[in-house]
Amino acid sequence: MNIRTVSTTPYPDQRPGTSGLRKKVKHFQQPHYLENFVQSLFDCLKDMAGKTLVLGGDGRYYNPEAIQIILKIASANKVGRVLVGHKGLFSTPAVSCIIRRCKAFGGIILSASHNPAGPDGDFGIKYNISNGGPAPESVTNAIYTQSKQINRYLVLEAEDIPLDTLGIFTLGEMRVEVINPITDYAELMEELFDFDRIATLFDTGVFHMCFDAMHAITGPYAKDILEQRLGADPNTVLNGEPLPDFGGGHPDPNLAHAKSLVTKMYRANAPSFGAASDGDGDRNMILGKRFFVTPSDSLAILAANAHHIPGYRLGLAGIARSMPTSQAADRIAEALGIECFETPTGWKFFGNLLDAGKATLCGEESFGTGSDHLREKDGLWAVLFWLNILAVRRQSVKTIVQEHWSHCGRNFYSRHDYEDLPADLSQQLMEDLRKQLPKLKGKRLGQREVTLADDFSYTDPIDHSITTGQGIRLCFKDSARIIYRLSGTGTQGATLRVYLEAFEPNPDRHNQETQVALADLIQIADHLAQIQQRTGRAQPSVIT
Ligand code: G1P
Ligand code: ZN
Repeated sequence: MNIRTVSTTPYPDQRPGTSGLRKKVKHFQQPHYLENFVQSLFDCLKDMAGKTLVLGGDGRYYNPEAIQIILKIASANKVGRVLVGHKGLFSTPAVSCIIRRCKAFGGIILSASHNPAGPDGDFGIKYNISNGGPAPESVTNAIYTQSKQINRYLVLEAEDIPLDTLGIFTLGEMRVEVINPITDYAELMEELFDFDRIATLFDTGVFHMCFDAMHAITGPYAKDILEQRLGADPNTVLNGEPLPDFGGGHPDPNLAHAKSLVTKMYRANAPSFGAASDGDGDRNMILGKRFFVTPSDSLAILAANAHHIPGYRLGLAGIARSMPTSQAADRIAEALGIECFETPTGWKFFGNLLDAGKATLCGEESFGTGSDHLREKDGLWAVLFWLNILAVRRQSVKTIVQEHWSHCGRNFYSRHDYEDLPADLSQQLMEDLRKQLPKLKGKRLGQREVTLADDFSYTDPIDHSITTGQGIRLCFKDSARIIYRLSGTGTQGATLRVYLEAFEPNPDRHNQETQVALADLIQIADHLAQIQQRTGRAQPSVIT
């Protein structure tokens, strides 16, 4: 077979963001754009020859074409074996799982997570290393550097692999195994959770759940695990067919985007438990009957109930949360006598803590929860964790959450996003905030006293690498916080995220509406950054 060396010129914009390289599909379809990035990746993975790679994506538009291109470049770069998901599909957590189980060298995930898909939507590519987790910045920076000087890529001239057929194929010297992307992942879930007990809960006939796969990757996983293995009703999974454009939707599991689920869960005869996952299956949303669980609370409640779960019965080493995630996790960590780590936004920062055995559970306010079972956040895992708790406690989601608040207090929490802002305007806004920081400490803003005002920077406790500029935070004496950050995953304009948190110890005040409980902080946040005035936006684009 013939390996071709194709000359190319660099693109200047291939710097991976919070979670890989994400761009519009049309951007990826420019001549040699994907090829340049993939070759830059292989150029950085010097000892890849003869090794195993896992490959798959969330099924979005351009997924099949990209897989064929990557396979041929992989073969030309002397990769030994590629495990590719049937039809090119793999959820992000399942890739992480199989890298670990098969001791693969790494994996390539094709996804732009929850961003809309289709010819005018987004596409993305991400590399995960042998621990199953996202490549650290040392690797992504090296890829970026290489992408700026690349002048050729290598590609095998060959026919496409029939991704619709399970089996073993060869591509030049490389072996391609088209495998079932669900089996290993489902087996891992059976090891962690008490499937018999959850099945008994479904058998009662009074417990019903609804899972919204949002026409994205988790449909087949949820049908296999919830409906087949656990015996949930056959119509438990909504929107279970993965579609290249996700049915025209925005597969982000939150109150704004998971509309069909939310409507169902707020009806009079709502099911007992509702959940959703995102485009690539790593995010989750948890709902009870007419009740929403914030991701920050969910993390704390999983920690508080971990002793009920077979895979976590021996106790938790620690909890890790991203900086903007609420401090509910810190409170339960303190109660359990374990450490709580605060990391920058993005799952990659949890990798070292998990590998070192310092954290068992991790979470982000952005609907991401996970544990040391793999190295990505994991949507269905969180759903099964909740199901296992419900199967043991036999209480409603609402009761479990309210009991938790009455023991630990409630951290009211919300994130306000201002999307598609001009980049220079949002950078200026952040810059001006940064300038105010030295004067803020000790100052009173409304009823609250500022005890800390900084631009968050993080020293990794394991490898001591330092990451700066991770968000402006104002912490108040009463534990309230306001945080400002610019998104690192957008593909259009800039997104300003404002995170708001207030602590309420008094159970009599736990049933307030969140935006009401946070009203004064919302005002302070706007006043300080002059958001309305500068952006001309009277409201955030999305409130979660
Ligand atoms: C967002 C979330 C972050 C998450 C990332 C990938 O990143 O805020 O928590 O890890 O997506 O799912 P951002 O756009 O804020 O940089
Ligand atoms: Zn995702």
